[in-house]
Amino acid sequence: MTAKILDGKAFAARVREQVAAGVARLKADHGVTPGLAVVLVGEDPASEVYVRNKGKQTLACGMASFEHKLAAETSEAELLALIDRLNADPAVHGILVQLPLPDHLNEDLVINAIAPEKDVDGFHISNVGLLATGQKAMVPCTPLGCLMMLREEHGSLSGLNAVVVGRSNIVGKPMAQLLLRDSCTVTIAHSRTREIEALCRQADILVAAVGRPEMVTGDWIKPGATVIDVGINRIETPEGGTRLVGDVDFASAAQVAGAITPVPGGVGPMTIACLLANTLTACCRSNDIPEPEGLTA
Ligand code: GUN
Repeated sequence: MTAKILDGKAFAARVREQVAAGVARLKADHGVTPGLAVVLVGEDPASEVYVRNKGKQTLACGMASFEHKLAAETSEAELLALIDRLNADPAVHGILVQLPLPDHLNEDLVINAIAPEKDVDGFHISNVGLLATGQKAMVPCTPLGCLMMLREEHGSLSGLNAVVVGRSNIVGKPMAQLLLRDSCTVTIAHSRTREIEALCRQADILVAAVGRPEMVTGDWIKPGATVIDVGINRIETPEGGTRLVGDVDFASAAQVAGAITPVPGGVGPMTIACLLANTLTACCRSNDIPEPEGLTA
């Protein structure tokens, strides 16, 4: 069998079109322009690329973009003061503090200082709790993108066995919550899981989010399963260059799976598209305007 390739790049472009249409409607009917503020502390090159892309895509779909670049030695008090100002600013509907933060800053404290209704990353403990209890939450962008792709592929996910490999707060745990909410039977596997290969072979849906290059191979996969690869790892090639690979060994996995996301071009592009979707959702909720269909969990 050769798996169907799930094209995240094309899917993300469709989500961005939907967001742009929603933004145009908000402007025309309600005179409101959604605004996203992104805060970057320090000079991590990968984070700078992400933030630049976020800014460009925010503007491209008609939203306002506010970038705050702070020096690596910014104090916690200074960062918290900026977050307070953004919380109070009516032009800002979404706030994202790029992670990781420099070591002297307490990430939990900083994230939990964001007003929950503006927490477009869905990392605030209020949003984590709302998601876990099945209430209306802001949902983390990468798991939301994975869910959209799974729903598109399967329609209903009800009753399917889902295994999420990885237990991070950003992907693994919220992914498991979302799958549970869609009535999957969910298992979270991690570095201490026993007989992880056999466990993964039970999965109708296998989500790999561990950050270990090509860890999941074809023999871990149930024939016909849908495989979502969240990993983005840069590895060295024998020729002395580098290349991007996922947490799944694509070549062997694609022989067994029914459908699979590639790296690059799979889940990656969905993350920023869902960030834009979350900003539109946050803007609608704060103005008591009905949210567009299909852009939330
Ligand atoms: N760093 C890597 N991924 C993310 C993300 O989704 N949100 C934030 N805030 N920082 C990140």
